[in-house]
Amino acid sequence: MALQLGDIAPDFTAPSTEGEIHFHEWLGDGWGILFSHPKDFTPVCTTELGEVARLKDEFAKRGTKVIGVSVDPVASHHEWASDIAEVTGHRLNYPLIGDEDRTVADLYGMIHPQALETLTVRSVFVIGPDKKIKLTLTYPASTGRNFEEILRVIDSVQLTANYSVSTPVNWVDGEDVIIAPAIDDESAKEKFPKGFRTLKPYLRYTPQPNR
Ligand code: BEZ
Repeated sequence: MALQLGDIAPDFTAPSTEGEIHFHEWLGDGWGILFSHPKDFTPVCTTELGEVARLKDEFAKRGTKVIGVSVDPVASHHEWASDIAEVTGHRLNYPLIGDEDRTVADLYGMIHPQALETLTVRSVFVIGPDKKIKLTLTYPASTGRNFEEILRVIDSVQLTANYSVSTPVNWVDGEDVIIAPAIDDESAKEKFPKGFRTLKPYLRYTPQPNR
């Protein structure tokens, strides 16, 4: 069965551009993103991997490590790296796994044969400090991902892991959030001292509590 939210992210050992990775050990106590791309020396992938390098500090601010994977060998990733730097202006600054035997792809269900017979599709797994999967995304090979959106989702997932709130449509960090319906008004007054406004009994907005 496909991995689901709340499942433990499978552990593995795999070669990468930064040496052998023992995944859970590499994650440590922080957050992680494991993302797959279909193939080295391909156009959309080149733009995506440069973008992830550009956003390295943004991931670091969120205590989040990033690691990429495809079924190409590590030697190919190293060769391709200079193209990524040349085209995007950003040198790879995170490891890329060479998953030639498809250990990682199989564990995480990254190969969708009806879409791409033998290559990984564009999967993203956000993994929490408890090693549980907090978010999954799957895009087809022809559509590059929006990694700013992935940062936005991490902001939401990290916030809602610590406070009894949810984030509304199109929310970005700093905007008002929604108080969980399970919290009654009396408790909400205590938990959210900045106050809240009630649109419906089940829809109450409060300023972002960690700001
Ligand atoms: C690309 O990155 O452009 C790509 C990779 C594999 C299949 C299709 C497109």
